[in-house]
Amino acid sequence: MTPPRSRPVRLGVAYYPEQWPEERWAVDAQMMSEAGIRVVRMAEFSWSTLEPQRGALDFAWLDRAVSLMAESGIDVVLGTPTAAPPPWLIAEDPDILPIDREGQVFPFGHRRHYCPNNATYRQESRRIVTDLAEQFGADERVGAWQIDNEFGERCYCPRCEAAFRVWLEERYGSLEQLNASWGTAFWSQTYRSWDHIPLPAAGDVPLPEGFMRASPSPGHALDYRRFASDSFVLYQRLQIDEIRRHSDLPITHNMRSFRFKELDYQMLAQDLDFLAWDNYPLLNASDGWLEPALNCDAIRGLKDVPFWVMEQQVGPLGWETIRTPRRGQMRLHSYQMLAHGAEVVCYFRWRSARFGTEQHWYGVLDHDGRPNRRLRELAELAKELEGIDGLLAGTVPAAQAAVVYDYDARFALEIQPTNPALGHVEALRAHYGALKRQGVGVDLLAPTADLSSYRLVVAPSLYVVDEALAAGLRSYVEGGGLLVLGPRSAFKDRANAVPERPLPAWLDELAGLEVSDIASFLEGRAAQLEAVEGIGSADAAFGGWFEELALKGARPVYRYRDHDFAGSAAIAINAVGAGRVVYIGGVATEETLAGLYAWLAREAELDLFAAPEDVEVVRLRRPDSGAELLFLLNYAHEERAVSVPSELASHLDGVLETGSLVLEPYGVALLG
Ligand code: GAL
Ligand code: ZN
Repeated sequence: MTPPRSRPVRLGVAYYPEQWPEERWAVDAQMMSEAGIRVVRMAEFSWSTLEPQRGALDFAWLDRAVSLMAESGIDVVLGTPTAAPPPWLIAEDPDILPIDREGQVFPFGHRRHYCPNNATYRQESRRIVTDLAEQFGADERVGAWQIDNEFGERCYCPRCEAAFRVWLEERYGSLEQLNASWGTAFWSQTYRSWDHIPLPAAGDVPLPEGFMRASPSPGHALDYRRFASDSFVLYQRLQIDEIRRHSDLPITHNMRSFRFKELDYQMLAQDLDFLAWDNYPLLNASDGWLEPALNCDAIRGLKDVPFWVMEQQVGPLGWETIRTPRRGQMRLHSYQMLAHGAEVVCYFRWRSARFGTEQHWYGVLDHDGRPNRRLRELAELAKELEGIDGLLAGTVPAAQAAVVYDYDARFALEIQPTNPALGHVEALRAHYGALKRQGVGVDLLAPTADLSSYRLVVAPSLYVVDEALAAGLRSYVEGGGLLVLGPRSAFKDRANAVPERPLPAWLDELAGLEVSDIASFLEGRAAQLEAVEGIGSADAAFGGWFEELALKGARPVYRYRDHDFAGSAAIAINAVGAGRVVYIGGVATEETLAGLYAWLAREAELDLFAAPEDVEVVRLRRPDSGAELLFLLNYAHEERAVSVPSELASHLDGVLETGSLVLEPYGVALLG
């Protein structure tokens, strides 16, 4: 569980002094301060200004910008500038440029144009980070560090290939081990030299059916994804180690959305002091609330400290084309982050860029730099937050349920998706959504986390399992927990091989059943189910993927009504120790999940809160007193009425009358 927010919530902005004339900086600092901005992030793309030529370091401008901020009462987060190596460095060593999966060099002229395994680049990164840390590491005007910016994609260059072989040698110790683990006797792939092991380039993503090359060894492909992710974990560590020599300031990195596929954020989080992510609801989530909510609940589950939103959408956005938020959404989306426990929300960016790729990506100020509507709204929000600080201090989002996920499972399912209905993130989202829509607080966690405090634990897509993980789940259940497993659970072991065991492997006894047959229809064909017990949802169905279950102690909850599996169990429950396990043998439709989770919530005695579909409910708890606060956020552009317990008082928006609250379009109620 994340510890409570210890400091007042603060608003901030990303600021790029190097992109504006210096005469303007003092005006910006003053405008920020007057609007209630208390944090700026600077310098993460400034290498060519910090070091115009090799060795010609110029930190004086940054020092002056930092001073102006400090004088205005604004805390500085300094970014290390490594996401954008300068042109002279690439000219010196073009091998720094990464190579994409088609073998093309990613050219200079964008950003993220480096390979994390390139020795020159690692050395140069160390150097610039050391210089920065020496200069600002013990500086009272600086509050924190951000490493790089939104770590990136897999690289397929010869340096990565060499590093991959070293990584494999460290992991396996011997070629015999590697060959056994990958099962290289298949298709004559037995390796006799480390130097013969290629990168699984071009073939590690599924290509259209029948495309011959799209067939890497699953063990090989999974290891490459782990290696590529580790490359950034190690590259981040290299920078952290340098900063640590000169600075005790907390260190973070701004993570992308949870959907980003290339990085194991569970690993990346370990070396950081606190976590931050970048939230662009219009980009990632259309108008809905589920995706940003899931992102927050996932980042909270990565580290036991309150998180930040390092970049938050503030206005119209896009690179080539634009999407615009409606009036009121900026405030609503900011409150969503604070409701989910964010301590700081930094808007991207202070002023809209006149030059460069992001001219259409609006900041707080327009390009002309004059005060505008967004600045006024931000200032109003900052004021409003001061008024509720006392209420929010010491609170923590309350979660009675946990959804668990695993990066090996996610990577392995990307390598062999099996059926489009079985997507790992899609499964998490569907089950998370079914719980959240009933007003249940959810944490997203690694399956190895301490689960004992949760009344319900859901593992919708635990495709990769090992014995230790299975033992951990068993002890959760024996201790009285209710565990839900999804289809295709435990089909693979950690080597991405299929265990020589009944399925779900190592979990069959716990679930009290075996998967006796599978059905997979790529066109999403459905099977109808009928309830065996009083579950209350008559029309249940699976689509795309479903399994026949042979029960070995479990009781059926739903049976197939049609298909070859008619009459056999489709969903089953098994009592184990003081707890129970529910196995869902197919990809359930949204309505089916809604019915199932209504039943599971009763079984697990979860506290529910009914609200219209567009209204998100977030519960906060004060751990010392146990007192609860309730955020109700209306994402509809229309009024919404919510029934609320009459003893609650309303802060922020909404008209509260006995038992009912009417929320205006994009309104936010805080009840407690
Ligand atoms: C983020 C990135 C920022 C900026 C923003 C808008 O992903 O971290 O630097 O590019 O998107 O495009
Ligand atoms: Zn590389």
